[in-house]
Amino acid sequence: MPDPKSIPRTWPLPSRLPRPEPAPESQAQRAGPELTIIAPTYNERGNVVGLVNRLSRCLEHESWEVIFVDDDSGDETAETVRKLAIADRRVRCIQRIGRRGLSSACIEGMLASSAPYIAVIDADLQHDEQVLPQMLKVLRDTDADVVVGSRYVEGGGLGDWDTSRAAVSRFATRLSRLVVPADLTDPMSGFFMLRREVLGMTVHRLSAIGFKILLDLFASAPRPLRFVEVPYEFRARRSGESKLDSAAAWDFVMLLLDKKFGHVVPARFIAFSMVGGAGVVVHFACLVTLFRVIGVSFVAAQSVAVMVAMVFNFTVNNLLTYRDRRLRGLKWLRGLTTFALSCSVAALANVGIASYLYQSSLGWVPSAIAGVLVSAVFNYAMTTAFTWRAQR
Ligand code: GDD
Ligand code: MN
Repeated sequence: MPDPKSIPRTWPLPSRLPRPEPAPESQAQRAGPELTIIAPTYNERGNVVGLVNRLSRCLEHESWEVIFVDDDSGDETAETVRKLAIADRRVRCIQRIGRRGLSSACIEGMLASSAPYIAVIDADLQHDEQVLPQMLKVLRDTDADVVVGSRYVEGGGLGDWDTSRAAVSRFATRLSRLVVPADLTDPMSGFFMLRREVLGMTVHRLSAIGFKILLDLFASAPRPLRFVEVPYEFRARRSGESKLDSAAAWDFVMLLLDKKFGHVVPARFIAFSMVGGAGVVVHFACLVTLFRVIGVSFVAAQSVAVMVAMVFNFTVNNLLTYRDRRLRGLKWLRGLTTFALSCSVAALANVGIASYLYQSSLGWVPSAIAGVLVSAVFNYAMTTAFTWRAQR
């Protein structure tokens, strides 16, 4: 072992090192790319090399770059991308720490680009990159804002999807009509190319929730977007796994709610209220079972029902409504305590306000509804501020 003191603390100044003369670069070589391709990744190590090779081949004569936006995958996806980037300046990597989300990753990638045209493509080779030159041509030659890769126009297809996934996808597409124009055949597509001005005018309005970035763009744009669709066949996945799960379905509903009603009430409040509604059902199921079926005293049955409903509401909100701020372990227990406290105060406020209104000769139904509304808003505000505080 060398004596640490003998190790020099300063290295020779770089000027003393022989340096290769940089080759003179022409203006054209220095210019930024015309097209940026955003490829969101989560555990896609086995696919990134293949994607870069395929892009190099099909965009051989174009000026392009690819930005992988990786959510700190455990399988060294980001390291693999950076290794490629050392040999090829067209490859870039954004590694996000402590965050997840396909849409938000795409948005961050798009914002890191200065190119006039930006594409989004899955990194798992399921989208057909050979369509990209055609998409680029449409944007150059027409005044379209967006070119969408569609599985539902003549020439496109779902690949090896089984009938149940195809049916779910079609159902979701139909639901999405609530917020996007009817003639967009594949609003669920994650494969498209747009002009950067379209991003500029839309980015501050995006919900950035979940998987469906194209839907978000169309539903958030300040004016109807001019679009052209090009067909592509969805390929089978060869390496890695799909990240689409039941949580993605919940995010999809949240995105639709946010786009439809977000300007009036937060989508999270709607979710919180829906869970509250389900809690009332749980409460009554519990009460009826204990009081009517088993024959426990009313006070005991009602008390148990209140507890069960409260734990139910807390658990479901923790799993869904506040999925992005989910509490675990000791924090779960602390969260349950603050949630229960907030519910108790909200219940007092509910009774207080309803009684006051009822005594001021408002009917019993509107009085009760007002009490419920006030306590729901109060409970939502308190639990957002204390139980599921936003982490910074
Ligand atoms: N950064 C990041 N963060 N990337 C993610 C995340 C995430 O949380 N979740 C998924 N991805 C990446 C995946 O690594 C993959 O490159 C791409 O997003 C698509 O994810 P998949 O899990 O492969 O999605 P899929 O094949 O089930 O769904 C596809 O089909 C939809 C059509 O209905 C995707 O292409 C969607 O974009 C498309 O809309
Ligand atoms: Mn996929």
